[in-house]
Parts: sequence; C-alpha cells; structure tokens
Amino acid sequence: MTTPKRPLRSAQWFGSNDKNGFMYRSWMKNQGIPDHEFQGKPVIGICNTWSELTPCNAHFRKIAEHVKRGIYEAGGFPVEFPVFSNGESNLRPTAMLTRNLASMDVEEAIRGNPVDAVVLLTGCDKTTPALLMGAASCDVPAIVVTGGPMLNGKHHGRDIGAGTIVWQMHEAYKAGAIDLNEFLSAEAGMSRSAGTCNTMGTASTMACMAEALGTSLPHNAAIPAVDSRRYVLAHLSGMRIVEMVEEDLRLSKILTKEAFENAIRVNAAIGGSTNAVIHLKAIAGRIGVDLELDDWTRVGRGTPTIVDLQPSGRFLMEEFYYSGGLPAVIRRMGEANLLPHPEALTANGKSLWANCAEAPIYGDDEVIRALDNPLRADGGICVLRGNLAPKGAVLKPSAATPALMQHRGRAVVFENLEDYKARIVDPDLDIDETCVMVLKNCGPKGYPGMAEVGNMGLPAKLLAKGITDMVRISDARMSGTAYGTVVLHVAPEASAGGPLAVVREGDMIELDCASGRLHLDIPDEELTARLADWQPPADQLLAGGYRRLYVNHVLQADEGCDFDFLVGCRGSEVPRHSH
Ligand code: FES
Repeated sequence: MTTPKRPLRSAQWFGSNDKNGFMYRSWMKNQGIPDHEFQGKPVIGICNTWSELTPCNAHFRKIAEHVKRGIYEAGGFPVEFPVFSNGESNLRPTAMLTRNLASMDVEEAIRGNPVDAVVLLTGCDKTTPALLMGAASCDVPAIVVTGGPMLNGKHHGRDIGAGTIVWQMHEAYKAGAIDLNEFLSAEAGMSRSAGTCNTMGTASTMACMAEALGTSLPHNAAIPAVDSRRYVLAHLSGMRIVEMVEEDLRLSKILTKEAFENAIRVNAAIGGSTNAVIHLKAIAGRIGVDLELDDWTRVGRGTPTIVDLQPSGRFLMEEFYYSGGLPAVIRRMGEANLLPHPEALTANGKSLWANCAEAPIYGDDEVIRALDNPLRADGGICVLRGNLAPKGAVLKPSAATPALMQHRGRAVVFENLEDYKARIVDPDLDIDETCVMVLKNCGPKGYPGMAEVGNMGLPAKLLAKGITDMVRISDARMSGTAYGTVVLHVAPEASAGGPLAVVREGDMIELDCASGRLHLDIPDEELTARLADWQPPADQLLAGGYRRLYVNHVLQADEGCDFDFLVGCRGSEVPRHSH
C-alpha cells in the first residue's frame, strides 16, 4: 500500500492515543478487531441495502463478503453497515417516496462515521440513485457494486421478463385471452433466481447508468446475480476502492458534466427507463453539476437504440451480458463517434473509452445490434413542452407506437388514481382509441413519491377490440418495465397547480414528439381563468410525519424530485466530537 494523497479521514477517530482514540478503538474491538487494523489502514465502508423485504437485494450479504475479501487483500479495513433499503415490489405507496430518505441515511452514515471511502451495494431500482446521491453529497471515494440481474424468467418453455410479463399477461387476462390460472402460473417462473429485474427496467437502467457514469468497474451492470463472475467483480471492486483512497479519487472527479452527458447518450442506446431522467438530475444536483431536462434532447435525442431488450425489444439481461454487456455497447457507440466524452475518468482510473475500446462483442448482432440496424433509430428521451407542461414532460420513443407520436385527441380525464380505478372498468365510459387519457394528481406531491402509474391500463372494451396503445398523459412516472405512448413527469404537476390540474373532459390535446410540443387546445384566457380558480387537493394538506416533510420539500420532476434542502455537495467534514 502506498501513502494516501491526503490524510486518512478515519485517522480523526482512530489515529490518536488520547482519550478519544481509546474510546473509538475500544468499542470497535468488541467485534474482535486486532490493533493493527487501526494503524493507518484505509477504512472502507460497505454500504449495504440488504433486506429480505427487498428481494432483489436479498443476496447482498454474500456480495458484501466478497467485497471484504478484496478490501483485506488490498490492505484495507472493511466495515459493513446497513442503510434503508427501498424495495420496489413491496414498499407502499411507492419506493420513490423513500429514495430521498435513504439518501439522507447514506449521507449521514458516511459523514458521521470513521470511513475513508465506501462501496455502494445497489440493486433494486431506487437503491442505486439513493446511494449515489448520499455518497455524492459527501464527495468521498466511492465505487458501485450492483447485485446483478435475475436469470431469464421461464414460463411454458419460453423466456419471460420480470415486470414486463406482468403488464402483458394482465392485459391478456383483461381482454379474455387467458384465464386466471394461466395468469397466476407465471409467478414463480418470472422470479426464479436472486437478482434484480432482468428487463431493461429501472434497476438495469440505473446499473448501466452507474457504469456509464464511471462509478463502477466495467461489466458491473450486466453480470447475472448468480454468476460467479459477479463475486469476482465484487472482490475486484473491494481491491480497487483501497487504491481509490490512496489516489484520492473522489466522486467529484468522476461525476462531471461530461460523465452525465455520456450517461444520457448511453441511456438512449440501451433504451433505458424514463426514471433515469429524474435520478440523474438528482445525483447531478448532489455533486454540483448543472444538468437540465433539455440536455436529454441536446445530447440524447436521435441516438439509435441498439440494445434489443424488453420492454422495448426482445431479449433479457442474461443475453445482454453474454453478448458483451455495456462495454460492447459503448465500444459500438465510440466507433461511430456517438460517445460524447470518451476521455471521462472512471473508477478504475482509466477513461471510459480505454475500458471499452477493445471490448468483445459476441453473437450475431441480435442483442447488441449494429448501428445501421437499430431497434429504433429515434432513441433517447423525448422532452415535451407547451402550455400543458411549461416545465417539461417526457416520453420514451422506443416504447411508444410511432403512429401515435403525433396525435390530437379528446381528453378523458381522471382526477386521481382512485377516480381512474373506479371509472376505467365502467363499460359505459365515453372513450375510444382516438382519445387521450389524462391522469392528474399522481406527481411528486400529489401522490407523494410519484407513483409508477403513468402507463394506465386501457379500458377492457378497447383491449378486446385489439387496441394495444393509446396516448396517455400524467404527472406520474412509469415503471421501466412498462411501455406505450405515455407522456410522463408533466411539470408542474397538477397538485402544485400546473396546467394539468385544469384539463377538463372533452378538451382537445395535441402531442407532437417531432417538435417536442404538448398543447392543451383552449384559449389562453380560458387557461388563465381556470388556473385562477384552482384549489390544492384537500388531503395534500393533511399529510403528517415523513410524508409532510416530503410534500413540503420535494422538487418537481424536472428538478429530480430531490428535497430542496438536500441539493448540493456538503463534503465529508464533520465537527469533532469530544467524549
Ligand atoms: Fe427490484 Fe425490479 S422490483 S429490480
């Protein structure tokens, strides 16, 4: 081990032979830690989101053990600690409600404890942004180790994708194409191994974002959870973080504006989740990088989607890894001059391009397709603006129906999720496939946490006619495993008094993805008069506990849904405590 570039932070706890040093070391020694662990070794925190209530992260104790092996081998002293675990599948009302809470937990746990660097064990959707946000606010050396995706789901002899198959089979069940037994029989086969959703949903997207940003070792995103190479990667990450302390390679040196622009372009190439728009903004805000919604248009729009994974395409993360994983995608992008900043620094001390320039690409361009034969030529995120979304909205072209991306239709308005659930089942609902379904009050404040309900299911009577997609508009999010011509993240949201709040049944709405326009076709004076009459929903004012903190401080979707008081990098200094 060489001498670190700056004094070890942990020496403020363990480095003195006074009363404080005695106390800090003594209590730690009750775990059987020998003296030499306290004598100048980098202390590496392993920030663990293990939880049996977060099934996607339930194998993390074993991953942590392999990280520890690497840390010991490199001469570091590992200390594992738990942080709030946001499990997407169980947490109500939505795991997004507690993303910021988890980030606060991570930030304060890092800053308050004797750690020189951290390994971030991330997996299920929100755990990746939460841990990166918290670590970024401290700006310590950090490396991401993802839990890896599940093996392909299997059902009746075919591969099925986590999440996506639920939407598909439920629609088939509602349309009468399959019965209840057939629907339920896919449960066990969908999730048949440890790991995160194996589609290019939000977990896989954010794992790819962490790798594209440079915060992990190459191949972190795609190695299956149960593949022994996942444990090798954990071991090597443990070794590498010790070197990162010696090099003082903090997150601010990796998470630059250039890194975020690379990530935006990579998100387009992989057909990544719209949730990345919110999470990257929040992470950028924590490290002091000015990332705007329009950067997604400037940098990402027009980039071909070349990864043929569900929900936009056919395959799953297992095939993605076997075809070369993210380094292969980045190589293909770089060779076509589609990587905006190949020189961006990554966690292993090399540039993104150095890591990927010679990455092997396996197979016959089926999973990672050639740029002249993309899954969709118009990848990326379509940012929309107009009198219905003055601060923006987004749509994922690769998941949308091309014919609906320019559309004018009559609004069928649902005031909130309960209204939608009550009326969508009404066979007399006045709706046809040319209508535009509008859902209000599901944004960050309106449905605290901004539920993933934007891809609201179509009425059964239209499904039975064979209609599979309609234009849908809301201030909600959408699961990364979902699909459709769905306008999301409308800002300002209805519950904050945005124009979405005053859309009425029968209004005409125009969507034009080519020009990025979302327009409510009523006179300006009429819109102004309706907004003047608007009152916030009553239940919003009644929130208590954490939910009150959330509603009072959450920023809008275009600002990343962070809390206003959490934006920014506060560093790792902490007032010295004297016992
Ligand atoms: Fe955890 Fe999909 S529910 S990754």
